[in-house]
Amino acid sequence: MRIVLVGPPGAGKGTQAAFLAKNLSIPHISTGDLFRANISQGTDLGKQAKAYMDAGNLVPDEVTIGMAKDRMAQSDAENGFLLDGFPRNVSQAEALDVALKADDVKLDAVLDLEVPEDEVVKRIAGRRICRKDSSHVFHVTYSKPKQEGVCDVCGGELYQREDDSEDTVRKRLEVYHTQTEPIIDYYRTQGLVVTISALGKVDEVTARAMDALKGDK
Ligand code: AP5
Ligand code: ZN
Repeated sequence: MRIVLVGPPGAGKGTQAAFLAKNLSIPHISTGDLFRANISQGTDLGKQAKAYMDAGNLVPDEVTIGMAKDRMAQSDAENGFLLDGFPRNVSQAEALDVALKADDVKLDAVLDLEVPEDEVVKRIAGRRICRKDSSHVFHVTYSKPKQEGVCDVCGGELYQREDDSEDTVRKRLEVYHTQTEPIIDYYRTQGLVVTISALGKVDEVTARAMDALKGDK
């Protein structure tokens, strides 16, 4: 399957993507995680992306689209993928359509995670991620690691993301509403959007998402 996951910052996209990708045997491709990996490795791409991310703005399309396409071209993504955080505006969605068309394949669904803003703020405020791999995500009350400050998966140190400060979160939410939400209408005209509530326990949301995706097939 080829799936796009969409939802506001802190909706639980990364958390759900890890389980959904495993259940569906497809790779989880997160542009946020790819940028963070580049930043921690000190690459040129990471250096270009960092200032935009720290300010809560989108990284320019010229950088993002190439990086996402390169990742989708890897052999593990040949038969499907779960995109998390890409596309994030209409021009990225159009670029994705062109790339898929060139490969003669189509998206199966766009899974839209709906969460009220006050819940998003609570989820982001308590989020802690792993220094070694930013796809290892925890929460100080909702998803506690076994040992405080230590990643259950790899033993890495847990920390708070630089862009999780209150001001930057406010900016990221504004960017979501103005630039990312329009892609939901874009995909709605293609009949691809499945909206689910992302409230409740993590496994309840995963079950809801799996049901919605099965219903969609
Ligand atoms: P990105 O990393 O994609 O951030 P985001 O979209 O803002 O999403 P988040 O990672 O904040 O949240 P999430 O929905 O994954 O939630 P999570 O599962 O962690 O992007 C960061 C930046 O990179 C952007 O601002 C931009 O600058 C740049 N960028 C990335 N892609 C780009 C693109 N395509 N174009 C341009 N720029 C781009 O969950 C949040 C917390 O809640 C966690 O602590 C988790 O444990 C907890 N939680 C999850 N589910 C539940 C639940 N059901 N109940 C209780 N707690 C829960
Ligand atoms: Zn880890």
